[in-house]
Amino acid sequence: MASGWRYGRGYALVTGASAGLGDVFARRLAERGSDLVLTARRGDRLERLAETIRRSHGVAVEVIPADLTESGAAERVWHQASSDGRTVDLLVNNAGFGAQGRFEEVDLDRHRAMLLVNCTALMELAHLALQDMKPRGHGGIINVSSVAAFQPVPLLASYAAGKAFVLSLSESLWAENRDHGIRVLALCPGRTPTEFQEVAGTGRAEGGFGSRTPEQVVDAGLRAFEAGKSCVVPGFENLAASWAVRALPRGSVLKAMKVVGQRIWGGSQ
Ligand SMILES: NC(=O)c1ccc[n+]([C@@H]2O[C@H](COP(=O)([O-])OP(=O)(O)OC[C@H]3O[C@@H](n4cnc5c(N)ncnc54)[C@H](OP(=O)(O)O)[C@@H]3O)[C@@H](O)[C@H]2O)c1
Repeated sequence: MASGWRYGRGYALVTGASAGLGDVFARRLAERGSDLVLTARRGDRLERLAETIRRSHGVAVEVIPADLTESGAAERVWHQASSDGRTVDLLVNNAGFGAQGRFEEVDLDRHRAMLLVNCTALMELAHLALQDMKPRGHGGIINVSSVAAFQPVPLLASYAAGKAFVLSLSESLWAENRDHGIRVLALCPGRTPTEFQEVAGTGRAEGGFGSRTPEQVVDAGLRAFEAGKSCVVPGFENLAASWAVRALPRGSVLKAMKVVGQRIWGGSQ
């Protein structure tokens, strides 16, 4: 098993750094001495965060405002991040959002945008990153998936399906690249209070089953990445649930998830 990771050999590119987990990733990586490239749509927030981080940690921080639903955006971000003599040796594929509701009642454009950010842009960035990292024999990718990846989630159907894609892709890439000096981690958080709940329409996340702070989630993610793991589920309740849903019959899990969805979001499906 790989161990240790030397931060600061190259830049860390963090997507979705304008809020929530991405903001915390940026701060934690800067604390460890990593230079940063930050991206999200809200450039004003990124600039403010960059200024704070430069002042408190003395690392270099570049900002690239981008909308990852746009065709070619991931490629533009990667090339801009790795220009001007910068080498990106850690990609944190964190940008993402959810859309709660009965599948057919959520606007199709919203499903499409969600999968473009959560899956397509993530996959494109991972592809570009590996093409650069492989010849160097060094690099890392942290893909933010979710506990929703382990089973279907009625009322978050396409979100959960997308996160299952991220988990599966990440684990395959971990296996393909572990003997080539490159780490790939799937970080699978449970409920974490961020702007996610407001954007997805899923209600408060504080204090619910398995709820952890963004700092706890990011710290667990970085610990697992440093240890060379392929997947981490922060929070013992979430970890136990992820084991249980794989051990129980799929039909029972699905029925239970329907009840959970109705309890949490009051769906009438
Ligand atoms: N919070 C939870 O309970 C939870 C649980 C499991 C997994 N996750 C996953 O954790 C990751 C981070 O979410 P979070 O909880 O930190 O939510 P958040 O606070 O809403 O942050 C989401 C980030 O994604 C960026 N983003 C959204 N749409 C984008 C687009 N079209 N182009 C570029 N960037 C975009 C946002 O930036 P702009 O709006 O500025 O573009 C923001 O920086 C997501 O992948 C999410 O699925 C969250």
